[in-house]
Amino acid sequence: MVVVPSVKLNDGSEMPVFGLGTYLSKENEGVEALRHAIDIGYRHIDTAFFYQNEKEVGQVIKEKIAAGVVKREDLYIVTKLWNIYHDPAKVEEACKKSLDNLGLDYIDLYLMHFPVGYKFIDDNHLLPKDEAGTLQLSDYDYLDTYKAMEKLVKKGWVKSIGISNFNSEQTDRVLQNCEIKPVTNQVECHPGFNQKKLIEFSKQRDIVITAYSPLARPNPAEKKPAFLFDEKMLAIAEKYKKTPSQIALRYLIDIGTVPIPKSANKKRLEENINIFDFKLTEDEIKVVDSFHTGERINPFNLVKAQNHKYFPFALEF
Ligand SMILES: NC(=O)c1ccc[n+]([C@@H]2O[C@H](COP(=O)([O-])OP(=O)(O)OC[C@H]3O[C@@H](n4cnc5c(N)ncnc54)[C@H](OP(=O)(O)O)[C@@H]3O)[C@@H](O)[C@H]2O)c1
Repeated sequence: MVVVPSVKLNDGSEMPVFGLGTYLSKENEGVEALRHAIDIGYRHIDTAFFYQNEKEVGQVIKEKIAAGVVKREDLYIVTKLWNIYHDPAKVEEACKKSLDNLGLDYIDLYLMHFPVGYKFIDDNHLLPKDEAGTLQLSDYDYLDTYKAMEKLVKKGWVKSIGISNFNSEQTDRVLQNCEIKPVTNQVECHPGFNQKKLIEFSKQRDIVITAYSPLARPNPAEKKPAFLFDEKMLAIAEKYKKTPSQIALRYLIDIGTVPIPKSANKKRLEENINIFDFKLTEDEIKVVDSFHTGERINPFNLVKAQNHKYFPFALEF
């Protein structure tokens, strides 16, 4: 079993520096994968109301606690407020749904999934669209939504709160107006989009960057992302007897982020967590830095198209 180290967050809590992504892990496939993940040392689990798998995640947690494999306090469970619940009056109800789905009496970390809200129709319309197929957005200020999330900490429903997909200006606006600081900003981060500026900015403010899509969702048939197939990457992998994916994940740890790769495959779950027995040199980090292309794989184009005032990716970082 791999023991994953933790990082101390700005509210005094600790987060394992590596976690399991669960987006697109549904039902049986995800359940089996999560069972195996917990058995081999995964403790930080990243889900979201939007992923529609909170029930399955909760079921495995319950099973592993009952079997004595882990205690609740060993686990670090992250879920997210979906964009249709940005109305401050809906935040408590949304969090309660996630708690019920997960079967937990507290969540370790609750994130605002995105700074732009979507129109609420009902709980089943997660991507509300009009007849022309245009995504229906809302104008709720993410600051008001965040303030409603602070109340969840006070109620004891969530231990920590954070943000996701926020840019530097939005982060500072939250920091200047909040009572409880966000502990993390979860953003796309991998060698092809390394977020160096946002990482430095966040470090100065004691906010940890959680790296989502840390492998840039590999597509081996198309040899994508390019960084996994680069000769310089293959040479570093060869030196450590690791795979390019392991080098990419280790790089993310070495630059101070918390990667959360998703896998529903036992072999790849093992591969991804086996990155705590080596460390890249400064020169190797520079080589991996050079794979940055500035191209996102999650550009949120449906929101971008509408020029919403809170669309986060119009700024450089
Ligand atoms: N906050 C947000 O807006 C946001 C957005 C996107 C993602 N996320 C979170 O971040 C997590 C990870 O991001 P992601 O799922 O987008 O992308 P990712 O983790 O970069 O890539 C996942 C894909 O990589 C494959 N894979 C896993 N390990 C591999 C390895 N060692 N070698 C080759 N392929 C491998 C997986 O397939 P197999 O399952 O078959 O192994 C899966 O298809 C998500 O699951 C979610 O929890 C958050």
